[in-house]
Amino acid sequence: MDWLCRYFCELDGLFGLLLMAGSGSAGILLLSAGSLGVVSGPVIQKIRVLDLIESELVEDEMDWISCFPQNGTCLESLIFDCVDSPINFEALERLVVNSPSLKKLRLNRHVTIVQLYRLMVRAPQLTHLGTGSFGPGEIVAQGEQEPDYVSAFAACKSLVCLSGFREINAHYLPAIVPVCANLTSLNLSYATISTEQLKSFIYHCHKLQTLWVLDSVCDEGLQAVAATCKDLHEPVQVSFGRD
Ligand SMILES: *[C@@H]1O[C@H](CO)[C@@H](O)[C@H](O)[C@H]1NC(C)=O
Ligand SMILES: *[C@@H]1O[C@H](CO)[C@@H](O)[C@H](O)[C@H]1NC(C)=O
Ligand SMILES: *[C@@H]1O[C@H](CO)[C@@H](O)[C@H](O)[C@H]1NC(C)=O
Repeated sequence: MDWLCRYFCELDGLFGLLLMAGSGSAGILLLSAGSLGVVSGPVIQKIRVLDLIESELVEDEMDWISCFPQNGTCLESLIFDCVDSPINFEALERLVVNSPSLKKLRLNRHVTIVQLYRLMVRAPQLTHLGTGSFGPGEIVAQGEQEPDYVSAFAACKSLVCLSGFREINAHYLPAIVPVCANLTSLNLSYATISTEQLKSFIYHCHKLQTLWVLDSVCDEGLQAVAATCKDLHEPVQVSFGRD
């Protein structure tokens, strides 16, 4: 903890990457310490990239998102799709609002599609998006009007890379159609979708270079991919269903 602190403080001015590979909870402690003043606010303010790649980091449900300053960050990439515990959504929303340079955002499975909508309308500049669950979760309020997911996606004109779909409700899939034309990478490796569901959007995805799908799309789905996606660099990555 101490050495990490010194290390990052000495990097002052150069802050580029805060990558928490194999450092256990130390990285999170660093952030947490920031809110306690051990790591000074200006250091946290310089974080550009926060990619959490260890899922056990936040076992004690630490509210790490709240450690960022309220008055503006230079975050360009925030990735926490592997984090297993729920996050403080209000703090995340504030962080997104306060991070005008944010280009990459990958959410974990606890973020519902309703919350995704709230983030997207605040960050239409995103180029890379991991959607979180892409399902409604438990918070579908009776009689409340559904957000306009299609226009939220349509507003994200720079989006090229789309992933997530951890607990997808395929009913919402057509929402991604507006961004398909510019997508170069689409990762549906968590999304059990049928041939028909794939075909409802894949014909718009002419620029795809990378595509991951599950075998639930069947041969017919892969044929539709072959007919549309002429730029695929590698063969489509087909993963086998986990059930
Ligand atoms: C935010 O507040 C911190 C601490 O008060 C200050 O050092 C920093 O310059 C402020 N940043 C912006 C973008 O206003
Ligand atoms: C695709 O990208 C171009 C260039 O960035 C942009 O002008 C256009 O609006 C995008 N199209 C969509 C459907 O987002
Ligand atoms: C797609 O997602 C899976 C599961 O998260 C991951 O293992 C794989 O590396 C991803 N593929 C790309 C191209 O990002």
